[in-house]
Amino acid sequence: MLRTTQFIQKRLASTGKDLLRTPLYQAHIDHGGKMVEYAGFEMPVLYKDQSHIESHKWVRSNVGLFDVSHMLQHNISGSESKLFLQKVTPIDLDLLAINSSSLSVLLNKDGGVIDDCIITKHGENAYYMVTNAGCRAKDVDFLKKELLQFLDVKHNTFEGTLLAIQGPKAQDLLQKFTNEDLGKIYFGQTKFLKLSPINATVHLARSGYTGEDGFELSIPSTSEVEQQEALSFFNTLIAEYPEIVKPIGLAARDSLRLEAGMCLYGHELTEDLTPVDASLTWLIPKTRRELGEQSFNGAAKILSQIKDKSTTKRRIGITSKGPSPRDGNKIFAEDGKTEVGYVTSGSPSPTLGGNIAQAYIDKKAKIGSNVKVDIRGKLRDAVVTKLPFVESKFYKQ
Ligand SMILES: *[C@@H]1O[C@H](CO)[C@@H](O)[C@H](O)[C@H]1NC(C)=O
Ligand SMILES: *[C@@H]1O[C@H](CO)[C@@H](O)[C@H](O)[C@H]1NC(C)=O
Ligand SMILES: *[C@@H]1O[C@H](CO)[C@@H](O)[C@H](O)[C@H]1NC(C)=O
Repeated sequence: MLRTTQFIQKRLASTGKDLLRTPLYQAHIDHGGKMVEYAGFEMPVLYKDQSHIESHKWVRSNVGLFDVSHMLQHNISGSESKLFLQKVTPIDLDLLAINSSSLSVLLNKDGGVIDDCIITKHGENAYYMVTNAGCRAKDVDFLKKELLQFLDVKHNTFEGTLLAIQGPKAQDLLQKFTNEDLGKIYFGQTKFLKLSPINATVHLARSGYTGEDGFELSIPSTSEVEQQEALSFFNTLIAEYPEIVKPIGLAARDSLRLEAGMCLYGHELTEDLTPVDASLTWLIPKTRRELGEQSFNGAAKILSQIKDKSTTKRRIGITSKGPSPRDGNKIFAEDGKTEVGYVTSGSPSPTLGGNIAQAYIDKKAKIGSNVKVDIRGKLRDAVVTKLPFVESKFYKQ
């Protein structure tokens, strides 16, 4: 397994496990981060003096900083890089403008989702991809095997500081650190730029995982000097603009993405589900469907699902009161007897009140219909609801 990490590995006393630390580790400690194990990393779940609900609401009204450096970054180049990416994902890279990015999925031969990913096109033969921390070993293994079928693709993985800056005041904040007009960079667009205190060139993507406007910065962090710069940038944002900026942990990250109807790998997405099952058919553009069964991994299965409308369940929301539904809870029809689906993630919703959950439910269950969720042996009332629960506020042209 590839672990070319420059990140420090330390034994975590509470678990006895060796866990990796991102370049921002010391800042989490200094800001009172409660550290937990997450995908082999020691990451902050909450910070002192902020409840989960306060952190969540802060991001919806101000700016939150999220350390996402545990995610894996990939550079893919060479004359066959487009062919390669279009085999392992259903993306159409001709439809993607240069310096723009898109969500996609790595697919196995049966159309199952190996991971979700963000792919950015930097040139006709230069792509940048970010994949999930928890999938890194299997993703690298999968990509290596697939690469054997190509002669001219260079693929390298790397780590660095990945910092998500999310919330309605994200642009105002970041604009103080660059001469580039951020108002001209729209959702999905990217740029290499200078952020004043950081010496290295930073990759900025206007995107995120909260449903709010915001940015994801990739800050090179190979050397110790670079890691220090990234760390002090993070601290500077908080120290100089405490009235709008707070560091935010994994707990709020999950409830924010859940409200925004976004998938979390291992919950809404697994290798047993295709993007069609996951109500992500929009990830397969018409141009790729027209190319037929050889078009991309799993195309035979996926295209037949689209054509025959043969999926029996769909990914949808449910809302409820009382204890929150959780991953794995079974869902029954109103009669409490007929099993119609299962919950994949659930949480109280800080924005809406009550509970929200994503679930796979029988396609025939209509929005607004009543269902029951089995929570620890007790059937609780719930209502089938459309996604997202909270409308996204992306900065669009
Ligand atoms: C990745 O590719 C970009 C250009 O697309 C380049 O600026 C960057 O240095 C590369 N990083 C690594 C670690 O290969
Ligand atoms: C893409 O971005 C790079 C650096 O950020 C820039 O040099 C290049 O001109 C851009 N290309 C297009 C087509 O926008
Ligand atoms: C700043 O970056 C340049 C080019 O990447 C490098 O040569 C130089 O050593 C860096 N300076 C510092 C102080 O890190």
